Amino acid sequence: MRVLVTGGAGFIGSNFLNLSVPARPQDTFLNVDALTYAANLKNLEAIERAPNYSFERVDIADSAQVDQCFAGFEPDLVVHFAAESHVDRSIVAPDSFIRSNIIGTFNLLQAARARRTKSELLFLHVSTDEVFGSLGSEGFFTETTAYDPSSPYSASKASSDHLVRAYNRTYGLPTKITNCSNNYGPYQFPEKLIPLMILNALSDKPLPVYGEGTNVRDWLYVADHCSAIWTVIEKGRVGSTYNVGGNNEMKNIDVVHQLCRLVAEEAGKNEADLLELITYVKDRPGHDQRYAIDASKLKAECGWEPTETPDTGFRKTVRWYLDNPDWVESVRSGDYLRWMEQNYGGR
Ligand code: NAD
Ligand code: TYD
Repeated sequence: MRVLVTGGAGFIGSNFLNLSVPARPQDTFLNVDALTYAANLKNLEAIERAPNYSFERVDIADSAQVDQCFAGFEPDLVVHFAAESHVDRSIVAPDSFIRSNIIGTFNLLQAARARRTKSELLFLHVSTDEVFGSLGSEGFFTETTAYDPSSPYSASKASSDHLVRAYNRTYGLPTKITNCSNNYGPYQFPEKLIPLMILNALSDKPLPVYGEGTNVRDWLYVADHCSAIWTVIEKGRVGSTYNVGGNNEMKNIDVVHQLCRLVAEEAGKNEADLLELITYVKDRPGHDQRYAIDASKLKAECGWEPTETPDTGFRKTVRWYLDNPDWVESVRSGDYLRWMEQNYGGR
């Protein structure tokens, strides 16, 4: 099988490729990525010379580049990760979210539709639970929950989901969609809550908690998300959508407390000193209160369940950031520093 992976130099895409390329020598993988600030080719060092892997720099918002890529590679399967992914950035500068997430997905769907006139192709669209908006203290998102996105990021992902579904219903393109909760694990860019807190705690910097820290997210270890994606590819129904979650709801402040404990244990620091670093800062505008996923459809239809819990997965993640100082250094430069200065300066 010829597998086209978009956004494979980012956090989830690179974990997906690092797990899939060695495990599936019978498949050929092409990773296409525009290499934005969130990408890092260092993530892929373990597989970059594998005979069944190659990389091309492609901007999916450029239809000519996308068409050329489909014509050259002729994929049987598209696994679409590429997107602008950070809510805070989407609030400050939504333009690139519209361009990459909506127009980029549209260009891929058009190319997939054209390719399908020659041969079968499956389009797996990787999306988020944020398309459903915010929950109160009760209930879960199911696959039939109405879309109600709050941020430019989630609105752009909702739009891309609608396009994918429309291409299935209108043109018969074989598509599947996954809507997953918050991921954490190796290679996550330290603008997101978990790596930001780990790295700030390691350098004794403030730990900025939005609002009162009572917002709730469901946390899933990235390797579990990757296994869910393969499960849906292999066992999910064409034209269907699957929620993916860890069944691990936590308040942000509890996540930060747990990370302080783990960083203290793993790095030999004083936990009380780390807790002192917690700083409550101005809340995110339109901040969704609670996300919680009902992943029972994926379990019932395909037998998928997560393997890690925050107890095991958070510790692995802390260890990974401690064991990979070169990677940390590589993302602490250029654009990243400017963004942190503009948006988190003084915190
Ligand atoms: P990320 O920001 O770490 O990586 C995104 C990758 O996409 C980067 O390598 C970037 O260079 C690439 N990209 C962006 N715009 C592009 C363009 N125009 N052309 C080609 N490549 C482009 O994101 P992530 O956390 O790995 O998320 C991957 C996907 O999973 C996204 O679609 C996101 O919406 C979805 N998702 C993420 C989470 C999460 O918790 N991180 C949860 C559920 C779903
Ligand atoms: P984030 O990792 O940005 O993911 P998302 O917004 O997609 O859920 O944020 C997770 C939660 O942590 C969210 O409720 C916002 C909060 N948060 C903070 O409290 N402080 C921070 O510095 C960041 C980045 C996020």
